[in-house]
Amino acid sequence: MSSKPRQIVVTSALPYANGPIHIGHMLEYVQTDIWVRFQKLRGHECIYVCADDAHGTPIMLRAQAEGVTPEELIERMHAEHLRDFTDFGVAFDNYYSTHSEENRYFAEYIYTQLREAGHIRTRVISQAYDPKAEMFLPDRFIKGDCPNCGAGGQYGDNCENCGATYAPTDLKNPVSVVSGETPIEKDSEQYFFKLEDFEGMLKDWFAAGHVQTEIANKMNEWLEEGLQDWDISRNAPYWGFEIPDAPGKYFYVWLDAPIGYMASFKNWCEATGHDFDHYWKRDSEAELYHFIGKDIARFHTMFWPAMLHGAGFRKPSAVYCHGFLTVDGQKMSKSRGTFVMARTYLEHLNPEYLRYYFAAKLGPGIDDIDLNLEDFTTRVNADLVGKLVNIASRCAGFINKRFDGKLADEPSSDDLSRQNVKAADAIADYYENREFGKAMRDIMALADKANQYIDEKQPWVTIKDAQRQHEVQDVCSIGLNCFRQLVILLKPVLPQLAAQAEEFLNVSDLQWADLGNDLLDHEINRFKPLMTRIEPVFIERMIEATKADLASEQKIQQGPADPSIEPIAPEIKYDDFAKLDFRVARIVAAKRVEKSDKLLQLTLDIGGENRNVFAGIAGAYDPADLEGRLTVMVANLAPRKMRFGVSEGMVLAAGDDEAGLYLLNPDTGAKPGMRVR
Ligand code: MSP
Ligand code: ZN
Repeated sequence: MSSKPRQIVVTSALPYANGPIHIGHMLEYVQTDIWVRFQKLRGHECIYVCADDAHGTPIMLRAQAEGVTPEELIERMHAEHLRDFTDFGVAFDNYYSTHSEENRYFAEYIYTQLREAGHIRTRVISQAYDPKAEMFLPDRFIKGDCPNCGAGGQYGDNCENCGATYAPTDLKNPVSVVSGETPIEKDSEQYFFKLEDFEGMLKDWFAAGHVQTEIANKMNEWLEEGLQDWDISRNAPYWGFEIPDAPGKYFYVWLDAPIGYMASFKNWCEATGHDFDHYWKRDSEAELYHFIGKDIARFHTMFWPAMLHGAGFRKPSAVYCHGFLTVDGQKMSKSRGTFVMARTYLEHLNPEYLRYYFAAKLGPGIDDIDLNLEDFTTRVNADLVGKLVNIASRCAGFINKRFDGKLADEPSSDDLSRQNVKAADAIADYYENREFGKAMRDIMALADKANQYIDEKQPWVTIKDAQRQHEVQDVCSIGLNCFRQLVILLKPVLPQLAAQAEEFLNVSDLQWADLGNDLLDHEINRFKPLMTRIEPVFIERMIEATKADLASEQKIQQGPADPSIEPIAPEIKYDDFAKLDFRVARIVAAKRVEKSDKLLQLTLDIGGENRNVFAGIAGAYDPADLEGRLTVMVANLAPRKMRFGVSEGMVLAAGDDEAGLYLLNPDTGAKPGMRVR
């Protein structure tokens, strides 16, 4: 281990304050936290700061929908986020907010520096505007029909049905998501950051290896296409910081978001008496690392270094991108119940299971990481319970019961412990280089060796021989010393298990440097089970609970809804909708069904074809009143055999038995057999 402690500042991306943390986010915070804990364990100064990203249109609109002020919303989210992170063992040195005085100060300062150096210019541009809500609309706040395939309900930037990308102005029948009004085009003056001024700097910076190769390649492509000005301003009403000397103009959320790293760090410096400039001045010797998802690489590897450089600050030592979390090989999905909130996970499973599984799957690249739920169960049970904890539980009983809790007083003649110390160097390199998967593989190989050793020595046999008691104490002491080493090696990943193990081993805060200091003639405490197996039913319950979360989240997004209104069902694709064949139908006959007080038997004419349909509307309609009326039916529903006969479709009615039933009627002029879409 190098002698001089390093000074390291580490950040994770700042999560948006408009929604809860989910397990996809957690991949990033766990990755960063493991790396930070590793550095601390090695004796370095490593400061991990983060914050809520508290500005922007979605937060403004969500607050409106909930009927609270943005300040109230972001305060609540901040508390929820921090609690989720803490319960997952993610230990920030400071968790702050971009809506803070420090952040306002640095945003204004950086902007002013850039402006004074000539890197800001203004231009009049035309943008979509909602005349009713009196606000300019970001792309995601305009919906309409895809100009390419015609699919309805598509966002202003791309079509989810055919994948086409376009400008919001290309949408057919566009409407504002905010008011439902048709947006108009409106001119206004905006402030731009001249990224092209930093082309040479960025080229050199990428070449010097501050970003992963995959990312550098992508960025170089963008450099070759030519750097565009970046629009850093938004018109009022906007939830953010007003731009100095530009009344009614606000900093775009992505300008002040990364500055939030500095603000959080500054806030930490104030609280702990550290010198901010020492870490952020241009020639600082401290290291600065940003962990982020690949979706936000450009902000961190182009705009951010350019802003820092232009304003006279240091640049990041490196930006580390990771891939996206998938579950069972697919994008996290609300309807499948795999879009799991951190809180929901915590209500069903131990956070260290997931920390370990993420560690086992993480590498230094930007490939997506799959959480395969079956593999997750098998792996955690086999590695953590079956291998790691097993070593302690096999040895502890003998030491506790037969030797008054005392470990052997002589160093072991076996070299297991020395082998572990040797292996630790490679493991440290793996941690340092974010090769967590390789580190876990090596650590588990060491656990296998310890278990093999115990298997061979068979202390449960030897203990029966009065002459060989000493041997049992030796073997179990070696086993427990190996366990102690494995706990140190895994401490960045499993901090909670490590704390319990320290209590059991009767030692205080283990460090990496303690690897070689075996416990001799040392009294340990009673062994309590350190971790239990994952039962598949825990996972099933978590998935079910996630499906229920979805319904309540949707209610919030739609504003304060009448609680008697049913939540909207999970989103479907246009293709799914297109499969349904609705037809205008004339009720040519209607009669009660014997022995049923719910059902009416209807004969429906759908244009040259009659259908027999049983409908549960007897409580709401007199059959005589229905004959001759038009309604709407699902015509391509598979026939269903019922007690009274075969039902060949369903009629559409609103409500239910409690709220009342209301049959749908087409407007006058519709003819039986017409398709409804
Ligand atoms: N607010 C911005 C970041 C500003 S940083 C100055 C943002 N917030 S976010 O909440 O959408 O995402 C926070 C981080 O979580 C991002 O790095 C993002 O890549 C990461 N992830 C969000 N969903 C993820 C997965 N499904 N999988 C892995 N990481 C994911 O972006
Ligand atoms: Zn399309």
